[in-house]
Amino acid sequence: MTGHAPSAQLPPNADSPQWQIDRATFAAALDALLDMPTLADLRIGVAKLRRRLADPDDRLRQSGDDAIHFTPEVLQAELDQIAAARTLERARYYLSRLRRSLTAQRFAPASDIDLYRWKEYDDILTDSLWLIERRDNSGVHRADYWGNFVPQIPRQFIRRYTRPGEWVIDPFAGSGTTLIEARRLGRHAIGIELQAQMVDHVHQLLAAEPPTHPTIAAIEQGDSLETDFQALLARYGATSAQLVLLHPPYHDIIRFSSDPRDLSNAPTITDFLNRLKLLTERLAAALDRGRYLALVIGDTYRRGEWYPLGFQAMETIRACGFSLKSIIVKNFTDTLGKRGSAELWRYRALAGGFYVFKHEYIFLLRRR
Ligand SMILES: C[S@@+](CC[C@H](N)C(=O)[O-])C[C@H]1O[C@@H](n2cnc3c(N)ncnc32)[C@H](O)[C@@H]1O
Repeated sequence: MTGHAPSAQLPPNADSPQWQIDRATFAAALDALLDMPTLADLRIGVAKLRRRLADPDDRLRQSGDDAIHFTPEVLQAELDQIAAARTLERARYYLSRLRRSLTAQRFAPASDIDLYRWKEYDDILTDSLWLIERRDNSGVHRADYWGNFVPQIPRQFIRRYTRPGEWVIDPFAGSGTTLIEARRLGRHAIGIELQAQMVDHVHQLLAAEPPTHPTIAAIEQGDSLETDFQALLARYGATSAQLVLLHPPYHDIIRFSSDPRDLSNAPTITDFLNRLKLLTERLAAALDRGRYLALVIGDTYRRGEWYPLGFQAMETIRACGFSLKSIIVKNFTDTLGKRGSAELWRYRALAGGFYVFKHEYIFLLRRR
């Protein structure tokens, strides 16, 4: 999909420092470079442009309503490439590409990632191994709920597989990490959570963080297996969702409550998978075709055997009309439960001849 740049474009990567540049002035400067008669003249022009960009008082950096944001290193690298071109034709090719990115956009499927500016999105992960060493503790995010997401997980999927203003569903909302991230990114989100005290907690977190976007971040107390997601969305004026983030209990590895409806209390793994199937069917009815569901889950041990719960859960979802797009392996740092007992686990692993879980899976599936 292509389109024209909105007048006040948001930075592609709000986490890195940005130069705010006046779009029209920059476009005129690039047009002037495109008119240079020789490669030598063009290189002198690029050097002048660099000096102007580095000067915060220059008119280029005095942007009004029509600003475009660049990561300084990314823009410097573009100018390096133009200046290093061996022919005038090549330099003009690189220049035209940069010029085009000021006024046109080409979006990646299901997102607002602008492929004409793809180098700006260096925070978006595209490899299947995620080694996240530090969880994001910004704002109200905390690691104080057993087994909660590192916020980077929902952030990656919301950025990559939704557009601003679209809807995200999280049927196991827990401490509300998805809702917080969705609101920060200007997406609407609805979470379901069985435990009333967690729902209260999420309300408090949402109230404690001033919203940067006027989007809905709602959490409902209830059993997601009994939820009619279409009816729920309709209550908020939406007809369907564009992303599902599914972070169920990893069966009984952590017991979240004593409620028999809690998936961590499913009597057997077969029962757990049957419930997951029912839930997926309900979710699929509310998710647009061609859109994504990310399942975050780990494996478990049963009577001394490694049980591939993650893959079983992935197959269960696949059988509900989803195609598998990626399997991501993510490290996990110690949960609150295991913190402080690493030595004991190492001893047990040596004595029992097994390995201690240090990874979990993220299965990315797409509704057919
Ligand atoms: C792995 S945690 C999710 C954590 C969440 N991603 C976060 O960042 O806090 C699973 C959550 O699912 C909830 N849960 C379990 N069974 C449920 C059900 N049937 N309906 C709704 N929530 C349920 C548990 O109470 C727990 O909070």
